[in-house]
Amino acid sequence: MASSSSKIVWFITGVSSGLGFDLALHALRAGHRVYGTVRDRTKAANAISKIEAEGGRCVVLDVTELGSIPRVIDDVLTKEGQIDVLVNNAGLGLLGVVEDTRLGACIIICLQVLT
Ligand SMILES: NC(=O)c1ccc[n+]([C@@H]2O[C@H](COP(=O)([O-])OP(=O)(O)OC[C@H]3O[C@@H](n4cnc5c(N)ncnc54)[C@H](OP(=O)(O)O)[C@@H]3O)[C@@H](O)[C@H]2O)c1
Repeated sequence: MASSSSKIVWFITGVSSGLGFDLALHALRAGHRVYGTVRDRTKAANAISKIEAEGGRCVVLDVTELGSIPRVIDDVLTKEGQIDVLVNNAGLGLLGVVEDTRLGACIIICLQVLT
């Protein structure tokens, strides 16, 4: 069902902290509609309460579980009729000299980039 609202609809992954959380609040305060994803509602409870208090919606999604992504997107599209802005923010950063970086962390990030 298409939304009758002309507001811009954002879908932001990883709104439990950091850039995703700040961006979600910024977009809400600019009058937009925001759907954000979290992996763990308990761990992200503080962020969820702040985002939902401003009118946003938080949904559970682990972006590495590819099979669950279409259901979450379809739910938003059913409610809103559209997603105008997708912010693929969820993830981990790794900054360092390759020689000083743990091999396991490098492999995980390489796999995330390739999938
Ligand atoms: N901050 C920087 O200076 C900087 C610079 C360059 C690029 N970036 C990129 O910008 C993004 C956000 O950075 P940040 O500093 O704001 O990091 P952050 O505070 O650690 O936030 C990362 C967010 O991504 C979520 N996340 C991680 N893995 C996920 C997964 N598999 N499925 C769903 N959510 C997942 C985290 O959720 P949980 O709470 O569940 O872990 C959290 O909400 C990252 O992709 C990072 O690589 C950041």
